Amino acid sequence: MTVSRKPPQAGIQIDGKAHAVDPSRNLLEVALELGYDLPYFCWHPALGSVGACRQCAVTQFKDENDTQGRVVMACMTPCADKTRFSLAHADAVSMREAVIEFLMTNHPHDCPVCEEGGACHLQDMTLMTGHAYRRFRHAKRTHMNQDLGPFVGHEMNRCIACYRCVRFYREYAGGDDLNVFGAHHHVYFGRAADGVLESPFSGNLVEVCPTGVFTDKTYGESYTRKWDLQQAPGVCHHCALGCNIMPGERYGRIKRVENRYHGALNGYFLCDRGRYGYQYTNADDRPRRARLNDGPVAAEAAAAQLGEWVAQGRATGRVLGIGSPRASLEANHALRALVGDANFHRGVAAGEAACDDLLVQILRQTPARLASIREAESADAVLVLGEDLLATGARLALALRQSVRNAGFAMADAANVPRWQDHSVRLLAQETKTPLYILGPRATGLDDIARRCHRGRPADLARLAQEIVHLLDYTQPRAPGLDDDAIHLAHDIATALKTAQRPLIVAGTALESTALLQEAANLCTALDKAGVAPSIALLPRSANSMGTALLGGGDTDAALARVEAGEVDTLVVLESDLYRLAPGARVDAALARLRQLVVIDAVSTETTAKATLLLPAGSFAETDGTLVNHEGRAQRHFQVFVPGETDIRESWRWLQQSAPAAGVDLGDTLDALIAQCAGANPALAGIVDAAPSARFRLAGSRIPRQSHRSSGRTAMHAHRDIHEPRPPQDADTPLAFSMEGARSGAPPAEIPIFWAPRWNSVQSVNKFQHEINGPLRGGDPGVLLLGREATAAYYARPAWQAAGTLEVVWLYELFGSEELSARGAAIATRVPAPYVVVHPDHANGFAQGCHVECSSDGLRWMAELRLDETMAPGAAGVPRGLPGVPVVRAGVALRVEAV
Ligand code: SF4
Ligand code: SF4
Ligand code: FES
Repeated sequence: MTVSRKPPQAGIQIDGKAHAVDPSRNLLEVALELGYDLPYFCWHPALGSVGACRQCAVTQFKDENDTQGRVVMACMTPCADKTRFSLAHADAVSMREAVIEFLMTNHPHDCPVCEEGGACHLQDMTLMTGHAYRRFRHAKRTHMNQDLGPFVGHEMNRCIACYRCVRFYREYAGGDDLNVFGAHHHVYFGRAADGVLESPFSGNLVEVCPTGVFTDKTYGESYTRKWDLQQAPGVCHHCALGCNIMPGERYGRIKRVENRYHGALNGYFLCDRGRYGYQYTNADDRPRRARLNDGPVAAEAAAAQLGEWVAQGRATGRVLGIGSPRASLEANHALRALVGDANFHRGVAAGEAACDDLLVQILRQTPARLASIREAESADAVLVLGEDLLATGARLALALRQSVRNAGFAMADAANVPRWQDHSVRLLAQETKTPLYILGPRATGLDDIARRCHRGRPADLARLAQEIVHLLDYTQPRAPGLDDDAIHLAHDIATALKTAQRPLIVAGTALESTALLQEAANLCTALDKAGVAPSIALLPRSANSMGTALLGGGDTDAALARVEAGEVDTLVVLESDLYRLAPGARVDAALARLRQLVVIDAVSTETTAKATLLLPAGSFAETDGTLVNHEGRAQRHFQVFVPGETDIRESWRWLQQSAPAAGVDLGDTLDALIAQCAGANPALAGIVDAAPSARFRLAGSRIPRQSHRSSGRTAMHAHRDIHEPRPPQDADTPLAFSMEGARSGAPPAEIPIFWAPRWNSVQSVNKFQHEINGPLRGGDPGVLLLGREATAAYYARPAWQAAGTLEVVWLYELFGSEELSARGAAIATRVPAPYVVVHPDHANGFAQGCHVECSSDGLRWMAELRLDETMAPGAAGVPRGLPGVPVVRAGVALRVEAV
């Protein structure tokens, strides 16, 4: 829920203690913020209050003479000035006891075998309420469970009917395949029938449900108690938004990923790609040993060999490095320093590199405010240009779903209904929404809340955007060739943006259209000139696309051209699969011209299969490093565990260890590398402050990665040695691979576990927030890097060409388009087979669902034909990155033929 904070204006008393608070807030929020422990179930900080569970009962007194008071629900009660409350009053206490006893009558009390056990909000609230004895002696009501697909487990008997799940799933996230069903005394939360939960946010049910009804199925498959997990602060690597995560490890395997609250980014929720994308880290086929010429080689010898080849290459000018937007800044910087600036390429094809560079330029020069995910929630008019956000930046899509509620919040404000009164606000608002317009190549999962959608090829969408710019600023030229419908739509959009208080423009590099990006920038310029203060969110494709764009370097097409020209002996490829960047035949031919190919990667790819020297890299879970998200926020992620008997190490460490043999100084610690990267790249100078250095200590101690309840290491290694082994030492960060250390007051970037006395579940985050829904105490992690430059003039438009034959337009899948997450077992079951989408007008006699042969740019592949009324005429939608779909270029002609 979008929050607006007022300074404290009301004086209230809680159990005789005076507090100055914001009167527009409810007592539950305020009490939690003030540090009181008050039990609750149906209230959720992002979902607001519905007063359903009656667990947050308190006694309210009229004035100082009222000794009797009346029981009210704290989550439904505003903190009006001079109000007196008691949490400890006997009536409130007995009401809370009665409610929890009632809720627990049918609960199976199966905590010892429940995956939620030990980190369960219901357990915490039961203890907090003092319910310790079960008087109900009759048969419990039981339910059948459902198979909800690969992500979410279901154990309905544990339900306490708080309704959080359906409120999140349906009202907050817009899903419609999970519901509540009632018959007799059965109230059932699930699907109408077994089946895969369709929402891209289904995994949040695991955290939203206060008990163990919805559980993380991937975690349950190799379960370990939550307090035995070793955790570290992480940053999601599966898109450019940089949501914060808490991965948990035991026995050398990542067991689960949990949301790590970030006030400006993900808040309380992740998308399913971010939550379940971790499984590739446990894959059996990951490279784990260094290999030279397909044989084993000692790690030290491997690093020295790399250094030797780089030294030769530096001497002859015949070495090249290809970095990666999925690798850390430190790794990319180390590679660039090794091979030299002129020989470093950043691991994206030419078209994407041009878009990334333009995106950075726009963000620096636009008069618009750069919107974080949470800021996007407060927009009151949104225009999405070309992005299918549920596939390319899902958490931002969830934010836009909240943004359309701002019209309802305005109505609530006018009617004096508090914004946290969730049900009342929804009743008042009905279908009233703030305007959201989506211009894209085909229907998206946000269309149900959009005021209008428009389909077109990227060039068509850019023209419509140009017309909107013209309507906002008549000095700008009209767009050529628009029909009446498009012109009317442009008028609607221009009016909505111009009359909004907080308009937001969203675009990105998904369609690889510089024209679209430029029009996004032009729109912000026009709005600014019109006296409106716009915000902008531009999405690059990968977790560190922004970081690598700021670092600079050529593109892979240029790199391959140099290899093809015979100018290169040694090519060092960092965390990139060249076969995803260029057609296979081209890569094959280029690699054949090398003397040696060095590949550093955490996954096995077609490129690692060709490596002369293969160096196994750590995944996000085995490395520290810095990523820069879509708004230019540098965030550090931390190593969760030290991989056991393998050669796996951070990519930057392989490069650092090879540096002496190459005659290059890369330092010997992470901090040294960060300082060097920041010093060499003024645009990245701020990364030093993304998190405290390795020297940081909390009260003289390190911050433990393990919980204070951890079962310890002895049992894990008892088959080898009954003595407690010494934990691995961490020279790179202030975190310890241990349960010993200091936790209280850790800097937000270094909090590995949210836990507080009496608060063992994820709900404990309220003890770490400056205010409910606000930033973490000490500020949200990360440093915004993008300096602002003088505002640019309007970008000029390319000459418009009418649609010719069918042209390739990229489509994206939440599961499948991103390389790493698609390798996980659970997500792999959701990755579709290759398909191609065309408008039925282009069916050419082919039937829906038949298999066809596609050809484009000399490439041929098989695909299922999908006929879709919403697909832009003239466009052939090709899913990018899917296994079996070759690397075609956007905008080129595509032919569909019979098999
Ligand atoms: S399934 Fe969980 S979230 Fe849903 S009503 Fe039951 S206890 Fe609440
Ligand atoms: S929206 Fe992006 S960064 Fe956030 S959890 Fe999903 S994949 Fe990860
Ligand atoms: S949390 Fe207040 S009634 Fe449920």
